[in-house]
Amino acid sequence: MNIRSKLVILCSTLFLLVSCQEDRFKQGKVLYEFHCASCHMDDGTGLAQLYPPLDNADWLRENKTRLPEIIVHGISDSLVVNGQLYTIPMSPVYGLSQVEVSNITNYVLSAWSNDLGSMGFREVQEHLEDLKIQD
Ligand code: HEC
Repeated sequence: MNIRSKLVILCSTLFLLVSCQEDRFKQGKVLYEFHCASCHMDDGTGLAQLYPPLDNADWLRENKTRLPEIIVHGISDSLVVNGQLYTIPMSPVYGLSQVEVSNITNYVLSAWSNDLGSMGFREVQEHLEDLKIQD
């Protein structure tokens, strides 16, 4: 194989990887807007004392690996997020596949001003499988 063909293959692979990532981010955004934004708002700022923010939220920064669990199981602890106490429980969001949970998770981790890294699909799956064992 000559250097030119190698370059073409390398570039196409890179292009595919990048567009794949973008597709996942876009699917995460659409799912977020459908399943989460009614409470946490399109821009992740939450709603007053009722629904906590997801953008620039100290609680999420410290507990980001719990995102898949929260999406699938909800959460009913009292939480202090950015100094504000939240006490209304969040119900589980039903009917999402593991891929969809992963895409929402990764969308939230990097949407708006969040720069919380990413979670591989395998990692998301492991978190969800650990939960099933506990049930
Ligand atoms: C019906 C309203 C509602 C919907 C829909 C909802 N949440 Fe929540 N969410 C809440 C409430 C209320 C809390 C606070 C729970 C508590 O205090 O125990 C919360 C807490 C959280 C937290 C932890 C606190 C924080 O701010 O970091 C995360 C993360 C979260 N939700 C993510 C999501 C995601 C992602 C979705 C969509 C898949 C979603 N929520 C859908 C109401 C909602």
